[in-house]
Amino acid sequence: MTTVRKMRIRIKWKNLITLLAFLLLLTFGITELIVCIVKVVNPPKKVKEKPVAAKKINTNKENKLNKLDNIDKEIDYFNMDYLDRYVSYKESHTEMPNKQVIKNVNMNLDTEHYKDPKEARNKNTEKILVNKYYYLGKDYVPNNLETISTRYALSNMKMVKEAKEAFEEMAGTAKKENLNIVAMSCYRSYDYQVNLYNKYVRSDGQAEADTYSGRPGHSEHQTGLAVDVYNQKETYTNFEKTKEFTWMQQHAHEYGFILRFPKDKENETGYVYESWHYRYVGKEIAKYIKDHDISFEEYHATIIKDW
Ligand code: DAL
Ligand code: ZN
Repeated sequence: MTTVRKMRIRIKWKNLITLLAFLLLLTFGITELIVCIVKVVNPPKKVKEKPVAAKKINTNKENKLNKLDNIDKEIDYFNMDYLDRYVSYKESHTEMPNKQVIKNVNMNLDTEHYKDPKEARNKNTEKILVNKYYYLGKDYVPNNLETISTRYALSNMKMVKEAKEAFEEMAGTAKKENLNIVAMSCYRSYDYQVNLYNKYVRSDGQAEADTYSGRPGHSEHQTGLAVDVYNQKETYTNFEKTKEFTWMQQHAHEYGFILRFPKDKENETGYVYESWHYRYVGKEIAKYIKDHDISFEEYHATIIKDW
C-alpha cells in the first residue's frame, strides 16, 4: 500500500515539473517572438561610423570656417578652394570684417603683384580682366579691331568694334554739347607696351613706373577695350579739371564705359588714380559698377567669380 502511494506522489511531482518547464519555455518563446516582431516593425537605427581620417578633415575645415564666423553661409562669392588663404589673411587682418577678407583674397590682395600671374580669362569679351595678377600672352591681339573716326580720336586709334562704336556715340553726343572728348591712346600691342614701359622705367625707375604703367602683357590697353582721353586743350593728366571729365563722370556708364582707376581704389586696381583712362565693359556692368561704387576688380571678385 505504502509503495503504491509513494509511486503516485512521484508521478505527480513529475507532472508538475514538466508543466513548469513547459510554461517557462512558452514564456521565453513569446518574449522572443515579441522582440523579433518589434525589430522587424521598427528596426534599430544603424549608427554609421565615419572613418577617423575623414572626421578629422571635417573638423579641421569646420574650425577654419568657424574662424571666419561661417561667413560662407552668408555670401555667394566664398570660394572653398581659398579657405586657407582666407584664414591666413584674417589672421593678419584681425579687425577686418569677414566679408572684406573674402573680397580682398578674391581680388588676390593677399598675393604680391606679378608674383604668380595667371593668364587672363574671358578673352575677346567685355568681361576680360587684365591687371597685375592676370596677363595676356605676347601674341594676343583682340578680334575685330577697328579704327576710331578722327572726329573723335588722334589718327590710327583702334578699339574692338563694340567699344569703338560706343566710344564714337559717346563722343558724338558730347560734341553736340560743345565738349571735346578725344581718344589719344587705345589698343596697344604687347611690343608697343614693352617700349613704353621700358621708357618709363628708364626715366622714373621700376617701382615708380609700376604705379602708373602696366608691364608688358599686363596692360589692359592690349585688350582693345581701354581708351585714354583728353580735350585737346589740357594735357591728359589734367583731364580731371575739364568739363569733359565732369560730363564723363555723369554719362560714361550710359555708353558702357567705366573710370578704370578711380581715386580711392588704388589698393584694388594696383594703379594710381587716372582720370583719363576708361574701359569699355558694356552698359550692364558699367551701370552696376557705377551704382555700387566698386572697382572692376571687386566686380570680378563678387559677381563674375571666374577663379
Ligand atoms: N596706365 C595703365 C595702368 C596701363 O599702362 O595699362
Ligand atoms: Zn590708359
